[in-house]
Amino acid sequence: MERTKVAIIGLGTVGTGVAKLLLDHGDRTARHAGRIPWLEKAVVQNLNKPRKVEIPDGVLTDNLDDVVSNPEITVVAQLIGGIEPARTIMLQLLEAGKDIITANKALLAIHGPELFDKARQLGRCIAFEASVGGGIPIITNIGQCLTANQVTSLRGILNGTCNFIITQMQDHGTDFETALREAQNLGYAEADPTLDVNGADTAQKLSILSQLAFGVRGNWEDIPCKGIEDLDIADVRFADQLGYRIKLLAIAKLVENEVEMNVSPMLIKKGSPLAEVQDAFNAIRVRGDAVGPVFYHGQGAGQMPTASAVVADIIDTVTGRSQITFNNLELWSESHRPRSMADASQTRNRYYLRMQVTDKPGVMAEITGILGKNGVSIASIIQHKPDQESLASTVPLVIMSHQTAQNAITKSVEEFMQSENIDSKAVVLKVL
Ligand code: HSE
Repeated sequence: MERTKVAIIGLGTVGTGVAKLLLDHGDRTARHAGRIPWLEKAVVQNLNKPRKVEIPDGVLTDNLDDVVSNPEITVVAQLIGGIEPARTIMLQLLEAGKDIITANKALLAIHGPELFDKARQLGRCIAFEASVGGGIPIITNIGQCLTANQVTSLRGILNGTCNFIITQMQDHGTDFETALREAQNLGYAEADPTLDVNGADTAQKLSILSQLAFGVRGNWEDIPCKGIEDLDIADVRFADQLGYRIKLLAIAKLVENEVEMNVSPMLIKKGSPLAEVQDAFNAIRVRGDAVGPVFYHGQGAGQMPTASAVVADIIDTVTGRSQITFNNLELWSESHRPRSMADASQTRNRYYLRMQVTDKPGVMAEITGILGKNGVSIASIIQHKPDQESLASTVPLVIMSHQTAQNAITKSVEEFMQSENIDSKAVVLKVL
């Protein structure tokens, strides 16, 4: 069987998984590709670092030029994270005539227009299934399987690390830092895990999906974004008592010809599919105007799930399928009908509010008065009596609102902060 020579740049968590699949399951990949995707070179920074995969002699190199100037290597999985040198290497590889596979969502979210334009000019392609949703084939599904539809909304859990942390807090009472360390040890987190927990990774993934589904052109940093770094286990417990789970959700919705986008931790009713997504799993619900809702669920982070997506892209690139899709999608191109992001601040939602209040007569009336004055209607309130042993003079108060505008909540919270009976900054979470 003929070979297509393939290179990997970067043998970290994902690169190692890709090498394992190519080397240990060459029969499988060859059968699907119709030729052998042959691992010719793997470029690493440190040749002496111990590896968790046995690389054949002559494959490992610390010289990028062994790939760039080898015309026989036509397919390259570029698996280094961050922006530079990843961007420069990608441009160099395209100039050298390589088709690229990448998992680097930050690079695509920021430099997608430049990289895709360059690939189009040079007649090359970029495949990026592994950039969103780990092992879930969401890019292929939106880009190929749902093309009879106009996607009208997307909502999903797109960060495995955050979902793992929240699950650990909820099911085992683990504190945030311990759960994050465990996610790092399991290979879910980014090299800089701040990007996971502050929602940036989710917003970058949402911007890629929104480009694909709606043609949204815009800066991912303009997506209203809140992460889970301040999530308190008390809110996970109160949400549980109220019949909800908290999840870091990415939402994009077509409203007229604009797209409302948002990333934030939200309460989701227990028993609904997104609420039941556990550990490092991701899930995405896509609604199309013909198909209705479609739900995707799978491992969103980690070595082998992500490698699964990269190797599928390698096979598609070797067969020529990626090139056809890449040309047809016209992503980040002027000819792809662009839509803009809409201001989501007027969107109506139900809200969860928690604050620590003085336990004395009249406080509840003051709080409900502020909410009423701002047009916020209360759906339910929980205030537990202070525990008998505790001498605390404040108690937590949890309020669930009916549908209300975001600015009504913001205004109410500002007024709460003026009151001497409210002891802490109110926690405000949206309810799906
Ligand atoms: N750090 C990412 C996550 C890996 O936790 O989901 C996949 O992009």
